[in-house]
Amino acid sequence: MLRVDPAKPVSTDDPATAPLLVPPLLSGTDQGDTVSYEMSIGSGTHQFFDGVDTPTYSYNGLGLLGPTVEIRTDSTVSIDVTNELDEITTTHWHGADLPAIADGGPHTIIEPGATWTAEFDVIQPAATLWYHPHRKDLTAEHVYRGAAGFMIVRDDNPMAADLPQTYGVDDFPIVLQDRQFDVDGQLNFAISDIGRGRQMDTLTVNGTIDPYVEVPEGLVRLRLLNGSQARIYEVSVEGSTLTKVASDGGYLETPVVLERMTIAPGDRAEIVVEVGADPINLIDENFDRVLEIRPNGQPSLDTAVPERLATIDRIASAEVDVERSFEFEEVGDGWGINDRVMDMARVDEVIKFGDTERWTLTVDNGQHVFHVHQTQFLIESIDGEPPPPEDTGWEDSVWINGNREVVVLARFDTYTNPNIPYMFHCHILDHEDLGMMGQFKVVDEGS
Ligand code: C2O
Ligand code: CU
Ligand code: CU
Repeated sequence: MLRVDPAKPVSTDDPATAPLLVPPLLSGTDQGDTVSYEMSIGSGTHQFFDGVDTPTYSYNGLGLLGPTVEIRTDSTVSIDVTNELDEITTTHWHGADLPAIADGGPHTIIEPGATWTAEFDVIQPAATLWYHPHRKDLTAEHVYRGAAGFMIVRDDNPMAADLPQTYGVDDFPIVLQDRQFDVDGQLNFAISDIGRGRQMDTLTVNGTIDPYVEVPEGLVRLRLLNGSQARIYEVSVEGSTLTKVASDGGYLETPVVLERMTIAPGDRAEIVVEVGADPINLIDENFDRVLEIRPNGQPSLDTAVPERLATIDRIASAEVDVERSFEFEEVGDGWGINDRVMDMARVDEVIKFGDTERWTLTVDNGQHVFHVHQTQFLIESIDGEPPPPEDTGWEDSVWINGNREVVVLARFDTYTNPNIPYMFHCHILDHEDLGMMGQFKVVDEGS
């Protein structure tokens, strides 16, 4: 039996050992009015370690993760998801502004062998979204086994047209996931109720341990996603500047050059780095090297970081119709919000269509990441102060560290559904499964 040494630390003194796995692009087929996509979720294997097959879940038979689903603003998409697992699951489009019936939350079960179709108009600007199973009580396990993928929204925003955007050449999806392997290279899953969630000892980047990627000289865009159960990454770049160009919901108004950046579970951040004659390294404070980026000797693709990237329709304080507050805390043996644990039969909040809301997020104990479905919000304040420039874009997930008070503003003016709720929850996946989730509906006046 092959034995693996999973926790072996990665050192930036040595070159990285494995080519980065880049998920294939799923562009869909144009059917006139609709672009349609075929997806499936099933079990398989992936070699995290050479010669060792690790049982996994994935989409489209990839063995790990899923294809990058590319959609365009102002198009209508229809995505078939067939469940090839022998258990029920769901598929949620994290960060997408869509009708509740297409959201893929825990109510939208796909039975084994069945196909669910999500149909929606793409009404949001360019952004890096992602998808993952969202089955009640089992989201953490299904994601941990490997089922998750990127969904990239592209648009015609002329301001951002010069950014790197050739998928797999100078534009890469990068998902960070820590995992724990046993000596046989197997992923054993056991849910945990610890307050900061489980921290595991092996970093996998697109499922690759200690990866490198070869790129043309010049600018490279990395679409970072924290797809981990609970770990928070502190990311920096060795050998280049790090310029953040987009948050969860799309471009920042202006690029922000940063020394380092925090990415909490569920969060995305698009960054641009510059590659010259020598390799550069994406670094995490705990794991050290995340990714080695090597020049491949090809000339740059003539890209640039524009001075302005987008216009954000800011939410003024005077627009706010309703205020709510949410405290994240221990409830009984699990985790809850406002003293309640998730109950599929209870709708926690009813929001009036067209309203703008201010939500105040606090933590009683533990460490949590707030995520809300369907809408993108703006951060109004963190501990009473305006957010730093890198946190002034659209967000659907925000880290509310044990002692932060985060106030967010959101509009609920796109879809209503009197029957199917959307979710809001902690994106530490174990906490979500242990009850730290609530439901809201957006309803028309009079309904
Ligand atoms: Cu990424 Cu409700 O989920
Ligand atoms: Cu979501
Ligand atoms: Cu939590």
